[in-house]
Amino acid sequence: MRIDVVTIFPEYLDPLRQALLGRAIERGLLSVDVHDLRRWTHDVHKAVDDSPYGGGPGMVMKPQVWGDALDELCAGGTPRLVVPTPAGRPFTQAMAREYAREDWLMFACGRYEGIDQRVLDDAARRMTVDEVSIGDYVLVGGEVAVMTMVEAVGRLLPGVLGNPASHEQDSFSDGLLEGPSYTRPEVWRDLAVPDVLRSGNHGAITRWRRDQALTRTFERRPELLAALPEDALDKHDLAH
Ligand code: ADE
Repeated sequence: MRIDVVTIFPEYLDPLRQALLGRAIERGLLSVDVHDLRRWTHDVHKAVDDSPYGGGPGMVMKPQVWGDALDELCAGGTPRLVVPTPAGRPFTQAMAREYAREDWLMFACGRYEGIDQRVLDDAARRMTVDEVSIGDYVLVGGEVAVMTMVEAVGRLLPGVLGNPASHEQDSFSDGLLEGPSYTRPEVWRDLAVPDVLRSGNHGAITRWRRDQALTRTFERRPELLAALPEDALDKHDLAH
């Protein structure tokens, strides 16, 4: 997969070259190119923003600069354009899975009060444009949201995780939160690992894990249980 990110703070994205995704980039499973938006400015001050029409606080990112950047970067094809904004549709694991099937994603990071809407309206004449929020809180800019999304998508790409079963058991892949995990020692600070996990009874372990996931989801995210399809719960689940 090819990923391009356009931002006025390119170094902000450096952490994507660490750890799992860094290795995926080195192995050629993924490319991440980060572009400085100021490359496409035309004035000595390299201005990327201006005051909003209609008044109000903050600044809006200028359409000419973004338009030139996207024209140049998209000259060879049409990526899916993702624009992080708190005013977007919520990012979910289902969207991460959908993005992981794309060949080319481009992220346009806004700062200040956002990007002139015509940039996105114009781009949408040629490509799919998604305005996406990573949660109901306001960040300083889109960069950290892009890191979040690239990480969520990158780990789903074939070959990136050592064990592909890891993401089949993720929280959200069956619509439930994952239950607790334990490793050695058997007792630590008077706290023992639940007996069933040391029983060797795989049927009982699977059942216990499922019950833990149900309890945790009920306590922490009841709206996820309510959203499950009708056939998602079996009779043992319902008894629990
Ligand atoms: N930019 C600022 N806040 C954001 C959020 N919650 N999600 C995506 N982009 C953002």
